[in-house]
Amino acid sequence: MVEKIRKLMRKKSHYALITGGSQGFGKLLALELSKQHFNVILVALPGENIEQTAAQCRHLGVDAETYEADLTNRDELLKMTEWANNKFNINILINNAGTGGTQCFHKSDLRYIENLIQINVMATSIITHQLLPNLLRQDESYILNVSSMASFSPIGFKTVYSATKRYIQHFSRALCQELKGTSVFVSVVLPGPMKTNAEITGRIEKQGLLGKIGLVTPEKAAKVSIRKMLKRKPYIIVGKRNYINKFLLALLPPQIKMQLMTNAAKREIEG
Ligand SMILES: NC(=O)c1ccc[n+]([C@@H]2O[C@H](COP(=O)([O-])OP(=O)(O)OC[C@H]3O[C@@H](n4cnc5c(N)ncnc54)[C@H](OP(=O)(O)O)[C@@H]3O)[C@@H](O)[C@H]2O)c1
Repeated sequence: MVEKIRKLMRKKSHYALITGGSQGFGKLLALELSKQHFNVILVALPGENIEQTAAQCRHLGVDAETYEADLTNRDELLKMTEWANNKFNINILINNAGTGGTQCFHKSDLRYIENLIQINVMATSIITHQLLPNLLRQDESYILNVSSMASFSPIGFKTVYSATKRYIQHFSRALCQELKGTSVFVSVVLPGPMKTNAEITGRIEKQGLLGKIGLVTPEKAAKVSIRKMLKRKPYIIVGKRNYINKFLLALLPPQIKMQLMTNAAKREIEG
């Protein structure tokens, strides 16, 4: 009975906002939340089938709203947060939108580097800042930020990516600390490699053993992430193998760890 009432309450008045919710990991997080009766707001780039994902969420019995915006554009980003704050009570924020890649830093297009920092670091920070007053108004709220196992070491050829994901890890842990005693709990998930689309699958396959050891299905990662977020786990690792990876990596001298991970990234470019 209590669970039924909780479900009804979830259904009626509160929303989970997921950035990058149209495809990949973000879509699976949105579907997982819908299965658990949370209404969702999906945010993604224009023209990326966001309505199809929303329809799948509605099919699970919840309300699904959509907003198309390029989160690297500060004005669009602020319009999106203003729209969300004016229309909805938000009790879950998932900063999933992100981009990666493996490239030689000095040969990269400047726009590629700017885009990576803007979407991974700036968008996560600004959206969190703008939606926090809304989250703080709710009796119980959650923020889940998506980092990566790549945040455990600097990685050559993923130079900017690994640094942005380290930022997400520190930002989330520090914010969780800062918000102690409030209604908002902050978690960070550090997925291992997930075959979320053809391009990423190709990259993972070229990494060799390191890519294979920590491989998790995005479905499992989404399920574990939502379950642990709702259990207020601040630091989420998916799958036993990635716990072992983390442990083994912590035993290695930093220089060797960095070399191993850089070699795996280099194989992606050379493969
Ligand atoms: N796949 C992995 O192996 C892996 C491992 C660890 C961590 N992660 C992290 O997991 C998250 C999701 O990755 P994924 O594998 O699902 O990748 P993906 O399939 O490429 O999805 C990325 C999502 O981010 C959105 N996005 C990218 N740039 C955007 C922009 N400028 N404005 C608005 N939305 C934008 C995309 O929206 P559109 O749908 O509109 O394009 C897409 O929904 C990322 O933060 C990634 O770093 C992935």
